[in-house]
Amino acid sequence: MCGIVGYTGPGLAVPFVLSGLQRLEYRGYDSAGIATQAGGRIDITRVVGRVADLQTRLGNAGADAHTAIGHTRWATHGRPTVANAHPHLSSDGRIALVHNGIIENYTALRQELEAGGFRFLSETDTEAAANLVASLYRGQLVAAVEAAIARIEGSFAFAVLAVQEPGLIVGARRGSPLAVGLGAERKEFFLASDAVPIVEHTRSVVYLDDDQVVALAPGRFELRAKGKPVEPRVQEIRWDVADVERGGYAHFMLKEIHEQPGALRRLAAKLIADAGVEGRPGTYPRFDLPDLKLDGGALRGVSRIVMVGQGTALHAAMVGRNMIERTARIPVQVEYGSDFRYRDPVLDPSVLVLAVSQSGETADTLGAIRVAREAGCKTVAVLNVQGSTLARESDGTIYMHVGPEIGVASTKAFTGQLAALYVFAIHLGILRGRLDPSEARRRVQDILQVPVRVEETLAYAERIEAVALKYKDATNALYLGRGTGYPLALEGALKLKEVSYIHAEGYDAAEMKHGPIALIDERMPVVILALRGRRYEKIVSNIQEVKARGGRVIAIASHDDAEIGHYVDDVIPVHDDRGIMNSIVCTIPLQLMAYHMAVARGCDVDKPRNLAKSVTVE
Ligand code: AGP
Repeated sequence: MCGIVGYTGPGLAVPFVLSGLQRLEYRGYDSAGIATQAGGRIDITRVVGRVADLQTRLGNAGADAHTAIGHTRWATHGRPTVANAHPHLSSDGRIALVHNGIIENYTALRQELEAGGFRFLSETDTEAAANLVASLYRGQLVAAVEAAIARIEGSFAFAVLAVQEPGLIVGARRGSPLAVGLGAERKEFFLASDAVPIVEHTRSVVYLDDDQVVALAPGRFELRAKGKPVEPRVQEIRWDVADVERGGYAHFMLKEIHEQPGALRRLAAKLIADAGVEGRPGTYPRFDLPDLKLDGGALRGVSRIVMVGQGTALHAAMVGRNMIERTARIPVQVEYGSDFRYRDPVLDPSVLVLAVSQSGETADTLGAIRVAREAGCKTVAVLNVQGSTLARESDGTIYMHVGPEIGVASTKAFTGQLAALYVFAIHLGILRGRLDPSEARRRVQDILQVPVRVEETLAYAERIEAVALKYKDATNALYLGRGTGYPLALEGALKLKEVSYIHAEGYDAAEMKHGPIALIDERMPVVILALRGRRYEKIVSNIQEVKARGGRVIAIASHDDAEIGHYVDDVIPVHDDRGIMNSIVCTIPLQLMAYHMAVARGCDVDKPRNLAKSVTVE
């Protein structure tokens, strides 16, 4: 995934583009570049490295430009080199273009364009788009871009400049997001891959739909589809700059871990309209799910639910499955979107496909939803990003309202997904007559109470850090859990590996004797979810099996468990309310351990190597 930024208006373009690119670096940071337009010229500066390196290389160049486009790259086609960095200039020097996405027919386009006399200097698919626009350019950039996207197969978000049309930026998208911030009186425009760089300048944003083209110039705003003008749908951004600043924390990941109590309170305030009233007869809680768009009749008719996601979102779906099966008694299966979309799954219109995604741009999750829609299924997405592609392609959405998540490692979005899924599970349980009012109210109280439990656990942050530092030099780690503890084990292992580069595996603790126990020795820390419950005795047996082989065990344990300390090396207590919202509380130590081990190892916690915030390519 890459980040695109553009500015045109009476202001200076370079400061906005550079600061915007820095805010988008979580989308990719292999190389960066900017194209400025002034004095009848387009000048391009590109570097391998971060936006800060670009700023250094740029110096004062382009300082007087009022129009510019920029790009920060996560390499798909071609290594991170200057030649492969964006913006790309067409070989006739007339068109500059930046791109996020994958052009699947670029090889054929490149051959055709080379035969037409265009030269290529890079290994990228993007350069084919720049030359294609140039080959179709007859003095009208909008027309050339419209003609070009009709020839392109694949996904794109473009920002394009033409030497002969100073001040004009043309944008277009298909499958990769592109947002336009509308400046005062539409005299200036802020273009970006998402609203994060825009919100400090304006809250009024238009998210382009697939195959829409936008023309931006001072006093000119044209949104087009299939060659015809269309009315823009202006949305007002509901969060602000503070949400995308680090706010005194060393890293976004740490900030977002500590934001979780507030994020969960905001989520509850948005989604829970009324917690219900005790008394005889007690009332049911009510939810505020304006974007769900599936009424009680539709939801009562659901025969089964398929949940799809990737990475952390998939782990949240695995917890969500337990929630929904317990409260609504609907059969739920969880699938990787990447497998579901190609497996020709057995579906019918009575199946609800529930996607979980922070960004709403994950290619495989989108692919799964499209397969579901083709089969006539109802689709719902649990999402964080307003205006994302998944929001537009699902029948209904349930927003998490946790605010922008900048750290590549997902933290508050994961716990937000769990809380939002629980709201949906209770809603389904009520609709399908599976929960009486008092049971429904009790479960809603768990959601309202969980921010306090998270705060209590964050109060142990120093103790968790001390435990983490004991194991920072490990080369491998094993995370074990049973029941809902198993997806948490997967999530804890994913957090550790993606930010600290320590190889970590999550396993169902019941599986340990079927193989992983062979890994156990004194060098392999074992983190185990060991809350009291139906499987507690079995978990204690797992712990003893590990200890008998010299393993070192860190237990995430119930606050009132006085015996676990006799069996393990380290205990991290969490307040145990004996409900499924424990899944949120247990996640906090897992996040903090990964964070502190990564920092101690000198890793770039917010921008881990090889990763990007959202995987918009397969
Ligand atoms: C989680 O820490 C990772 N960043 C990654 O697994 C992520 O959860 C996954 O790519 C799904 O992203 P999404 O929630 O935006 O769809």
